[in-house]
Amino acid sequence: MSPPHSDALVVFGATGDLAFKQIFPALQALVRRGALNVPVVGVARSAKNLEELRARVRASIEQHGGIDRGAFEKLSAQLRYVRGDYTDPQTLSALHDALGGAKRPLFYLAIPPSAFAGVVAELKRAGCVANARVALEKPFGRDLASARALDATLHQAFPESSIFRIDHYLGKEPVQNLVYFRFANSSLEPLWNRDHIDSMQITMAERFGVQGRGKFYEETGAIRDVIQNHLLQVATILAMDAPVGADEDAFRDEKTRLLKSITPLDPAHVVRGQFRGYRDEPGVARDSLVETFAAVELRSESSRWEGVPIFIRAGKCLPVTTTEVLVRLKRPPRDIFGEHVQDTDYYRFRLSPDVTLAMGMRIKAPGEPMVGQQKELLAVRDQTNDMLPYERLLGDAMRGDASLFGREDAILAQWRIVEPVLGAATPLRTYQPDTWGPADADRPVAAHGGWHNPR
Ligand code: BG6
Repeated sequence: MSPPHSDALVVFGATGDLAFKQIFPALQALVRRGALNVPVVGVARSAKNLEELRARVRASIEQHGGIDRGAFEKLSAQLRYVRGDYTDPQTLSALHDALGGAKRPLFYLAIPPSAFAGVVAELKRAGCVANARVALEKPFGRDLASARALDATLHQAFPESSIFRIDHYLGKEPVQNLVYFRFANSSLEPLWNRDHIDSMQITMAERFGVQGRGKFYEETGAIRDVIQNHLLQVATILAMDAPVGADEDAFRDEKTRLLKSITPLDPAHVVRGQFRGYRDEPGVARDSLVETFAAVELRSESSRWEGVPIFIRAGKCLPVTTTEVLVRLKRPPRDIFGEHVQDTDYYRFRLSPDVTLAMGMRIKAPGEPMVGQQKELLAVRDQTNDMLPYERLLGDAMRGDASLFGREDAILAQWRIVEPVLGAATPLRTYQPDTWGPADADRPVAAHGGWHNPR
């Protein structure tokens, strides 16, 4: 029997940046396809009243995707507003009233993580949690201990099956495409192991800096911001075994198994960098040791991946904005044509900004000599009809489908992996904006063909 649909959506942080850029456009998309027919209650401080919230929702959708008149009007009619401090008992009692007859609301916390525990405790005190669900934005904790503490707080109010920990990367169409590609093609599986694969690497490059989020970033840094979550998830999808069974935990079980097989990061194999100019950003300490770039090397103890490194690098102020995966295959055992070429057979998955799937290989160059040239077989997918990440994720959470959300054991495994290198545990190098980060980051990858710098 499928779980019951949530009968109201409550957005804490309804006037925040995330709601403006991502959530309201996603809600319009959900309304358009008939997947959101329940009251949507915004909770925030800065809008004075419902009319102001409606105007903000309109501006948000106009600037991010455009208004669909029918869907927007419907969404607008479903909107309610509760103004106040998130943990003020009066706010919670107003929320209780605004929920009217709703029996199974989804509380979506698009608010700073420091406020999660307080809001959850107040929701419980106000008698709002029975049969409810809660969805939380990342980061889920700051380290292993705080993630455990947050789990304990949540579990006082909600069972694990009602907790939806969001990693928006899992809602992205190209990431779902990677899952599909891995398990829908029989040609891949025989190659997908230490006998044929030399190494894997994931680069998440952003051309921009911290975009006014200096204060947030000072608390975070690249490892907590994107490696502990988004990029470990991508690595997991690349390396996990095929799921067994059909229930929603089948995928999550295999992912957790893989995450548990990864050894905690060795500080000797981690390079942290900070772009020149970061310390001049508003909200950033003049002597900040927070990294805006990190390169790490994952090792799995599973027999499938023994000896195969998975390199991850992420950084701000790099030369391009893109996320790409490169899976390098081993060279044939004998170099029959004596070309001494390296790094020729690979799979390349571009996850953003466009979806590309490419296979690198050698073919013979025209002419008499047996010499080759490098070619790529390329599949590019049109993204115009892609579902928005939050459209997928909020729709799933409302239906009670948790397969794309972080489970407690997986999130803790992710923290366990990065724990030894959090904060200023390793040296920090400075790098020039518009470069590929500190030169030291090239060292660990050198024996595996070096970094592939996406264009
Ligand atoms: C967020 C990080 O989780 O992901 C940001 O906090 C980062 O720093 C962003 O820029 C990248 O996601 P997307 O979907 O914009 O590529």
